[in-house]
Amino acid sequence: MRLLITGARGLVGYHVSFQALQKKHAIFLTSRGPDPIPEALYRPADLTRKEEVQDLIEWAQPEVVIHSAAMTLVDRCQEQPTLCWQHNVQATHHILQALIDKGAKAHVIFVSTDFVYDGYPIEQRPYIEGDYEAPLSVYGASKLAAEALVKNYPGRWAIARTALVYGTAPTLERDNILLRVLYKLQAGNVLPLYADQIRTPTWVNDLAQGLLLLAEKQAQGLYHIAGADIETPYSLGQKIARTWGLREDLVYATTMEELQPTAPRPAYSPLSVQKAKALGYTPHPTEEVLKQLCKEL
Ligand SMILES: NC(=O)c1ccc[n+]([C@@H]2O[C@H](COP(=O)([O-])OP(=O)(O)OC[C@H]3O[C@@H](n4cnc5c(N)ncnc54)[C@H](OP(=O)(O)O)[C@@H]3O)[C@@H](O)[C@H]2O)c1
Repeated sequence: MRLLITGARGLVGYHVSFQALQKKHAIFLTSRGPDPIPEALYRPADLTRKEEVQDLIEWAQPEVVIHSAAMTLVDRCQEQPTLCWQHNVQATHHILQALIDKGAKAHVIFVSTDFVYDGYPIEQRPYIEGDYEAPLSVYGASKLAAEALVKNYPGRWAIARTALVYGTAPTLERDNILLRVLYKLQAGNVLPLYADQIRTPTWVNDLAQGLLLLAEKQAQGLYHIAGADIETPYSLGQKIARTWGLREDLVYATTMEELQPTAPRPAYSPLSVQKAKALGYTPHPTEEVLKQLCKEL
């Protein structure tokens, strides 16, 4: 398969690229910074620039595009909505338009978020694909707007909504819950984590496996590609501390009311992965993942 992967220096893009390389797909990577994987073909591009995106599509001639690049810091998106819209919506538009100009033959896989939901499902159960969306934040709204563009793409498309992704990669510009807990606790510092956000944290390797599965199965439509277990950031933080033998009491439970984050977040957004499981997606139990990561790191 000839794959173009955007956001290849990010947590998700790096792992999709790495797994695709191991599976011997022909991969074409892009981000803005330097080459993340020297064995792969790489071209830096700013996706907010239409001409750079057109050149990128011309260069890669992709059969599949996994579009993971985005402005991902939720509070920064709230502070800089125009910039957020440029990176998350306009960039997606440029990619889709460049593919349409080439006949819309490529399969587009767009990485989205549980933050398209407001946390008030009609029934108190994990969200399923097709539940109504009502983002609370600029970030969530920008991802939903980009989803709408993808749904209008005349070729084959899939949207993969994921949540609270964790893991490591050599190229990361930002941390994630795993790294934050390890850095803070190993330095003996306390770390407040939300006990009032119920989510399905996702190991980045599982997500990468799920995204490649969507590509290989030529899946069409909306999918939740998330973790196997329901957790709060606080309960996950405690599990990380316990697995690494760090002081659990340094992780303390806080609430959104107490910390007042810039962007509002849903209190309840676990994602059901039943639909993806029917395709062959098999996320690992959280405790198993943490034990494995603890051995590797
Ligand atoms: N991480 C999560 O918890 C989470 C949860 C739900 C959904 N998602 C979604 O998953 C996707 C990947 O997230 P991530 O955690 O891997 O993000 P990340 O680590 O912040 O990486 C984002 C990547 O996007 C690239 N990028 C951003 N703006 C760009 C632009 N204008 N042109 C070209 N490249 C640009 C960055 O390139 P440079 O590094 O070269 O600047 C970086 O490689 C995103 O679509 C995000 O919305 C993430």
